[in-house]
Order: sequence, then C-alpha cells, then structure tokens
Amino acid sequence: MKTRRTFLLAAAAVATTGAWARPLDAIKKSGKLVAATEGAFTPFNYFDGAKLTGFEVEVAELMAKKMGLAIEWKTVGFDALLTGLAQDRWDLVIASHGITDERAKAVTFTAPHYCSGGMIVAKDAKIKTAKDLTGKTVGVQTGTTYLSNVQKLGTAKEVRNFPSDADARSALAAGRVDAWVTDRFTAIESARKNPQLKLNLGALLFTEQIAAAAAKGNTTLAQAWNDALAKAMADGSYAALSKKYFGEDVRCK
Ligand code: ARG
Repeated sequence: MKTRRTFLLAAAAVATTGAWARPLDAIKKSGKLVAATEGAFTPFNYFDGAKLTGFEVEVAELMAKKMGLAIEWKTVGFDALLTGLAQDRWDLVIASHGITDERAKAVTFTAPHYCSGGMIVAKDAKIKTAKDLTGKTVGVQTGTTYLSNVQKLGTAKEVRNFPSDADARSALAAGRVDAWVTDRFTAIESARKNPQLKLNLGALLFTEQIAAAAAKGNTTLAQAWNDALAKAMADGSYAALSKKYFGEDVRCK
C-alpha cells in the first residue's frame, strides 16, 4: 500500500516536472554533483579570469569533498537558476539565495551557509535608511530579494531592474540611480575595492538566511549536504573559508 502510494506520488512528480530529480544514490553512482551558480556575484560566486571561484564555490567544493563527490559546475543567469532545478538541468543551486516562503514552494532549501542582508548603498551620504529611499530611483538585480524588499517599501519613485548585480552597481556609479541595494558583504567589498566610486554604505533594509537549493523534495541530497555542512562548521574548515573571504565568521548565529 505504502509502496503504491509512493509510486503514485513519484509518478505525479514526473508528470509535473517531466523528469526525476536525482536522489543522492544516483548522484553518488555518477560520482559527480552537478551544481549551478551565477558566477557574477563577488565575493560569493565569480570568475577570476577563467576560474570560477568565491566563498560559495569553495563551500560547495568542500561539501562535495565531504560527500565523496566531484562537482561539475554550470553557470547561468541568476534568473534561470531555480527554474533549472525543476527541469533537472542540475542537482543543486548555490548562488546566495535568501530563504523565502515563495521560493520554498518551488525548491527544497538546505541549511543556511551564511547570514546576511540587503544593504542600502548610495553616493549621496544622505541616503542611508529605508526612509531615505522615498521618492528615489533604486537599482537592484532582477529576481532578487533586494527587488522584492524595495518594492515592499512602496515608497521609491522607481525600482530599476538589472540583469546582474554589477550592472546595478554601474548604474549607481554613473548616477543613473540614486541608490543600490545589494548584499552587505558585496557592498563592503565594492566600497573597499573601488574607493574612487565613493560609495556610502547605509543601513540594512532586511536580513536573510542564505542557503543552497535542491529540487523540491530531493531530501536525500539536501540531508547529505546538511550533514557535510554541520561537519565543516564543527571541524574548522568552514570557519577557515569564511575568514579567508570576509575576515570573520559569517555563519547564522
Ligand atoms: N540574496 C539575494 C536573493 O536572495 C540576492 C542573490 C543574488 N545572487 C546572485 N548570484 N546574483 O535574492
């Protein structure tokens, strides 16, 4: 009876997604975890010349190692990442996704690998807080929680979407928007690396827990990842990576 029910549920899943999400067994059999990221969000996932790297890329490599797997990386636009999970184009996404109820309807989130928030960045030092965004033009990356949270305020004159976070930053640098909302650590690094832009770091508009995502219901993979992450957080390897990129431990407390 139980088997039959499981079968019917699985058949329904195949009918809606058109394919199976690879459970851990199948991934192990192939020896390779297929992971997708954007590759354009420093310092989390980006290209250093031809090399894909960043905190999240290294965290994923560490998780894979602990799971006894190699990683095959795919890089695509931020917008295509979560939908690709449902289409079984990859097993896992790690690209600084904040855990939201909306997203959790479509994917199975792992435990968070860092905690952060959306920070207000402007050239005008008077634009610092949510209130200061009233009547202003704000630049954000399409599909992000920065977009939804600025929209939720409902007070900006205009919210302008950009395909990449770096494009939103360029718009701020060129004076085409009054403010940019991005990840706190991305903002800190941008300000430090580009002093000529004279970026002012403002308040956090919201905070969020950032996690990797597996296809909806792929609990065997999510669980193996969570076990590996817990081990890395206990044995000092996570802390070492975090220190390397941020000079501090960015795990959720
Ligand atoms: N944390 C934000 C979100 O959850 C932004 C993520 C942007 N990630 C990226 N790879 N560009 O939507």
